Amino acid sequence: MKALYLAIALLAMTGCASSPGKPDVQKDALYQSLGGMPGIERLVDAALTQVHGDLRINLFFENTDLADLRRLLIEQICQASGGPCTYTGRSMEEAHSGMNLSEADFAAFVEDLIAAMNTVQLAESTQQQVLGLFGPMKPQVVGQ
Ligand code: HEM
Repeated sequence: MKALYLAIALLAMTGCASSPGKPDVQKDALYQSLGGMPGIERLVDAALTQVHGDLRINLFFENTDLADLRRLLIEQICQASGGPCTYTGRSMEEAHSGMNLSEADFAAFVEDLIAAMNTVQLAESTQQQVLGLFGPMKPQVVGQ
């Protein structure tokens, strides 16, 4: 019984406690798995290359300032993965308004993202977490 109490006490101490002043290792775990800023930059570059070559959706981007989009995507992924960035772009509804994107457009975009994640050789579990960030945004992107 004593051993059990000890185990519980140890778990309580090490489990979720984050000591003040120390960086929260949980919060930026995905950011770290992505390889921090250089890793996110590589991922966004690979994704933009993929989208650029995708005849299903690349026309949507014909009047887009790609340097601007690149910067905003990097900020967005950095912030969403717990990294030290602040996304300065528009809301997803606003950014995609007037495009009337379909489910198929969204699926093509996700396919391109997966291809990009494979190109930069992200681990399967990291890929799942990235998809977990993007998936819930679908209602804000499609049909706007
Ligand atoms: C969850 C999925 C998506 C995310 C997270 C996302 C993210 C973003 C971000 C951060 C921006 C820049 C916002 C700004 O300009 O302030 C943007 C713009 C844009 N997105 Fe998406 N996007 C998604 C899906 C899509 C899809 C499926 C398409 C088309 C097939 C698309 C086409 C565009 C275009 C064309 C722009 C540029 C708009 C402009 O030039 O003003 N996006 N997106």
